[in-house]
Amino acid sequence: MPAKWTPDSWRARPIQQVPDYPDAEALKAVEARLASFPPLVFAGEARALKKGLANVSEGRAFLLQGGDCAESFAEHGADGIRDFFRVFLQMSVVLTFAAAKPIIKVGRIAGQFAKPRSSPSETIDGVTLPSYRGDIINGIEFTEASRTPDPERQIMAYRQSAATLNLLRAFAQGGYANLEHVHQWMLGFVDDSPQSERYRKLADRITEALRFMKAIGFSADEYQRLRETEFYTSHEALLLGFEQAMTRVDSTSGDYYSTSGHMIWIGDRTRQPDHAHVEYCRGVKNPIGIKCGPSITPAELIRLIDILNPDNEAGRLTLICRFGAGKVGDHLPKLIRAVEREGRKVVWSCDPMHGNTIVSTTGYKTRPFERVLAEVEQFFEVHAAEGTYPGGVHFEMTGNDVTECTGGARAVSEEDLKDRYHTHCDPRLNASQSLELAFLLAELLQQDRAGAARKVASMA
Ligand code: PEP
Ligand code: CO
Repeated sequence: MPAKWTPDSWRARPIQQVPDYPDAEALKAVEARLASFPPLVFAGEARALKKGLANVSEGRAFLLQGGDCAESFAEHGADGIRDFFRVFLQMSVVLTFAAAKPIIKVGRIAGQFAKPRSSPSETIDGVTLPSYRGDIINGIEFTEASRTPDPERQIMAYRQSAATLNLLRAFAQGGYANLEHVHQWMLGFVDDSPQSERYRKLADRITEALRFMKAIGFSADEYQRLRETEFYTSHEALLLGFEQAMTRVDSTSGDYYSTSGHMIWIGDRTRQPDHAHVEYCRGVKNPIGIKCGPSITPAELIRLIDILNPDNEAGRLTLICRFGAGKVGDHLPKLIRAVEREGRKVVWSCDPMHGNTIVSTTGYKTRPFERVLAEVEQFFEVHAAEGTYPGGVHFEMTGNDVTECTGGARAVSEEDLKDRYHTHCDPRLNASQSLELAFLLAELLQQDRAGAARKVASMA
């Protein structure tokens, strides 16, 4: 029997990536305040997401997860949130059509503030200061005052998350997500794209489908489902004091939930089975993601699944694979085989961002679009070969026209990176690169469907 879980049982475990707060009392006081604040999300919503993810694990839906690498306090405005949501919805329409399945929409937003770092400190011109760990912990500016972890930032992150979520809920339910509008925006993107020809065919088929639906009486004016959408939030559960403070007992089930976001995930650097992050996540009933990088072994993965999903509940675990283009074939098949052999229910998702970060010749951390696409393709190929379901994708993206990843139809060059390089952490796909990726992914989903149909036909 595992030891008893409590919201603070993680505190007795070894832990990675902890900020060094100079004032322990101030930190405690902030955590106590947070614990008295209203939840950001409700248990029932997390359960609904889990149901959606259970459908993904059974091949009946597809997961689209994406958003900022790190949200920032300085860039918190309605326009940024709207532009992200707008692109995300367009991607989702393209994917719904291509997959002919519901798309489960999960943002890296409204709580994605804390960042794991490869080194606890940074040295510039002989000055060494703590590394930037995300706006919920310290400031990005390279001064001692800014880099010193400040607990008050957790209150600011909570408030920003609440405001962001409030706007997202209004967008999702208040008419902004109207399918007919989203479709028009998508057509605008196709018209303007240098790859217009390639995307036009799929776009035209969506137009036809919508016309047909309208003709038989399914219009957005009449059907709420065509005017509204379900959208969920997620973030890396890295700052465990904050997560603990946001942990609440659900009055209907009596279970503990993290109410800081609908889904939380464990990062590739903090997934040691006997350490604090796994211990915390074990006890809350939210859907949980595990980042799986090249260092994870099949045995370790099964051990993590045993700890985090002992009842083998579908929708509980999403394995977010991030190996890097060219490395998927070395790592993914053996993980899939172990999971299949043990009969574990999981969602397989592909994060083609974190294994494909390079430094450009102009000195910027970047990700070449073609490598991102290549990793997604390899992920689909491996699943086709193993006979398993490629259930979703996980992107770092923004609705803005930034220049952080190279390539794409508009061909952002290494020289262009300096123009609009705004990220606080990792390079994100810009709006048009994100939509382009959705169209290319749509081609893969359609091939996958054709493959599945052939399999059924050959069995008949
Ligand atoms: C991230 O998702 O921003 C991240 C740090 O990922 P990983 O844990 O996979 O490196
Ligand atoms: Co990142």
